[in-house]
Amino acid sequence: MNLYQNEDTAIKTDALNMLKLNKNILLKGPTGSGKTKLAETLRHELNRPMHSINCSVDLDAESLLGFKTIEIVDGESVITFVEGPVIQAMKEGHLLYIDEINMAKPETLPILNGVLDFRRTITNPFTGEVITAAEDFAVIAAINVGYVGTLPMNEALKNRFVVIDMDYISGDTLKEVIKTQTLLQDSALIEQLVKFNHDLVTMAEQGQISEEASSIRALLDLSDLTTIMPIERAVKRAIVDKLEDEREQQAIINAMELTF
Ligand SMILES: Nc1ncnc2c1ncn2[C@@H]1O[C@H](COP(=O)(O)OP(=O)(O)OP(=O)(O)O)[C@@H](O)[C@H]1O
Ligand SMILES: [Mg+2]
Repeated sequence: MNLYQNEDTAIKTDALNMLKLNKNILLKGPTGSGKTKLAETLRHELNRPMHSINCSVDLDAESLLGFKTIEIVDGESVITFVEGPVIQAMKEGHLLYIDEINMAKPETLPILNGVLDFRRTITNPFTGEVITAAEDFAVIAAINVGYVGTLPMNEALKNRFVVIDMDYISGDTLKEVIKTQTLLQDSALIEQLVKFNHDLVTMAEQGQISEEASSIRALLDLSDLTTIMPIERAVKRAIVDKLEDEREQQAIINAMELTF
């Protein structure tokens, strides 16, 4: 079954076709909505290596492009340049995955502007080398919406991407994901868990509980735990005890008692 495929979204087909047009793709969605999983799926489908960058406030030009180092060659020390993920992906025509792109300091990423627009070119500031990307080079970035510590994305940067808006999967697709990615195979219990997750998503939308409680990652953990302990304890360990707020915890326990 194709987990990113339904009439509404056609996420995977669109992503593949847009990459073939050399578009840079921005995956936008809450934590656990499958952004990294989609990037991995695309890498498999295209059968092309992928270089990853995890953005943080510490991200700098060296972590993107590479750094100079001293090597001993035939007893003499020479300065060489160790190529970073951007340069490697450009030269080899590989995929470049930039995760949590809005966690980087605003002044860091503009160095990639020329890489991301029609020029597909960068002058490496450390070596002076001008690099033009190989034909198959493609960029996928991910952005966590509304996440603590994230900044709105710089307009000039955002302008260089086409966007795929991702949301939590639900219903039959979600059941399929539980079956393929967890130890739980009991269809009746999976059905109940998916309904429980749906209730949690609604509660999160209404602001009663935080979004992490309704995330797919928490649900997958919960599904695994139900195979080794009673449901009450599984919910406690996979969801409830991660939260700080007692009212949120109680709301989830109430929802659990209604469902199971
Ligand atoms: N559409 C989907 N198809 C298959 N698996 C999915 C899908 N959405 C989520 N998952 C599963 O949910 C879990 C979380 O997905 P993933 O790590 O890709 O989320 P993410 O959006 O990258 O989250 P974060 O922003 O926290 O990095 C993974 O185990 C993944 O396999
Ligand atoms: Mg991710």
